[in-house]
Amino acid sequence: MTFNKHSLYSMALGLTLGLISSNASADPVDDFIYQRLRVFGIGKYETLPVNNAPDYQARIELGRKLFMDPNLSGNKNISCLTCHTPMTGLSDGRALSQTEDGQRVLRRNANSLYNVGDPQNKFMFWDGRVHYSPAKKIFTTPEPAFNGENPVAKEITSVMQSALSAQSIFPIVNSDEMRGRRGDNEIANAKTDLEAWDLIVKRLTNDKNSKYIDLFKRAYPTVEKVNIGHVGEAMGVFMRESFQSNGSPFNRYAAGDTTALNAQQKRGLQVFMSSNCIACHSGPTLGNNSFFASVGVPFYGAKPFAQDKGRAEVTNEKFRTYFFKTPSLINVGLSAPYMHNGAFKTLRDVINHYNDIETSITTFDIGNRRNEFPVEVEVLNSPADLGALRASIQAGFLLSGLELGTRSLDDLEAFLKEGLTDPKWDPKNFNGASPF
Ligand code: HEC
Ligand code: HEC
Repeated sequence: MTFNKHSLYSMALGLTLGLISSNASADPVDDFIYQRLRVFGIGKYETLPVNNAPDYQARIELGRKLFMDPNLSGNKNISCLTCHTPMTGLSDGRALSQTEDGQRVLRRNANSLYNVGDPQNKFMFWDGRVHYSPAKKIFTTPEPAFNGENPVAKEITSVMQSALSAQSIFPIVNSDEMRGRRGDNEIANAKTDLEAWDLIVKRLTNDKNSKYIDLFKRAYPTVEKVNIGHVGEAMGVFMRESFQSNGSPFNRYAAGDTTALNAQQKRGLQVFMSSNCIACHSGPTLGNNSFFASVGVPFYGAKPFAQDKGRAEVTNEKFRTYFFKTPSLINVGLSAPYMHNGAFKTLRDVINHYNDIETSITTFDIGNRRNEFPVEVEVLNSPADLGALRASIQAGFLLSGLELGTRSLDDLEAFLKEGLTDPKWDPKNFNGASPF
């Protein structure tokens, strides 16, 4: 799935042969773009090798069922699919996700999940608070019992093989996301997260007729006592396998098909490269590379969370205040609104922001979007707020403004909107069927 040197060379070779055999009809524009893409490590994006082992396949099936099952939520009213649906870019179409009871909002925008299981994607959530080092087999998560070389909850961590698997059990114990509030149900009343996870596993497997008994047995044939790690690993495997996307015009172009992008999208890709978007949004998924930064996204949100310190909350490093994970841009046209807090409604709004951050942050207003939220939201834009936001942007070229004209902005928008959309994931093509 990842891009390696071998595919680089074979691509270069393919290009050379193409040039010779097509009698130098290759466009110098394509040659130029391919050269630049290679510099940024972008070539063919392979899907994962197929693993037909029966237990692995059973894990995918189990994970799919769990992902769609409201029984994972304390009040049995919400599933992962509610906030990560293919109809809205594996996100929920909202600027800020809503709490399980629909009465309030979460702090952040729901990430879209395309290629979320890419092995390069070792940090989960906008602030990267779930991390896994496969080499050292060490987790760093909000649950102390999972962390370090000798985790207390070894029976759980030893089952989970990725940051994604560990990530997937946290929404279950977040009272706003899926757990419900104290007094609501037995899972919400549990004293610790570990206890709440045990209760979830009991709920899934206590009934002898539960469809899960057989599924767990097939997914983990040698395991006697299932725990939340098995739940997380199954959902992780399901998401990794099922949410892959490498069929966008951009990915097909990068793999060598010069006709996959049209002329305007190619111009947009050139703007994307010459404006240095690619410095952060790098690799074949244009992001997901574990790089954290501030791009000056305006402060707004539900009181008192309008100001979100992001990565600094996790690492306690002051200089990472307002830093967030650089998201992948594959299928970005499907998952509006944008940024960690959904500050921008359209891709045009995003690129207008990048083009002139100073104007964007001084004039930002949530305006008539207020009625999208079940609670009051506020914008923080005092001189001190704006000063702090400006100071957090370390990419000088963003601070001074890109100064792109209308035509370049149009081209960039066309590239982001159509050039990055995989037909497989475009709801226009589902015809009511699920893509996974
Ligand atoms: C109420 C809506 C909601 C529900 C339900 C929900 N999520 Fe999310 N999800 C979010 C939000 C919001 C974020 C970003 C949170 C953050 O960064 O702090 C997120 C982030 C994620 C991420 C991180 C992706 C990345 O690139 O870092 C994954 C993976 C994920 N969710 C999977 C799941 C799974 C699995 C479930 C079910 C067990 C689930 N979600 C349930 C809203 C939801
Ligand atoms: C300094 C690194 C950096 C540069 C340069 C950069 N980005 Fe980003 N991009 C990010 C980060 C970090 C985020 C998330 C920011 C947040 O939510 O606070 C982001 C978010 C986005 C999003 C929203 C995606 C989503 O799912 O919400 C889009 C679209 C985007 N960038 C496009 C671009 C374009 C186009 C350019 C060039 C004009 C660009 N970026 C330049 C780091 C960068």
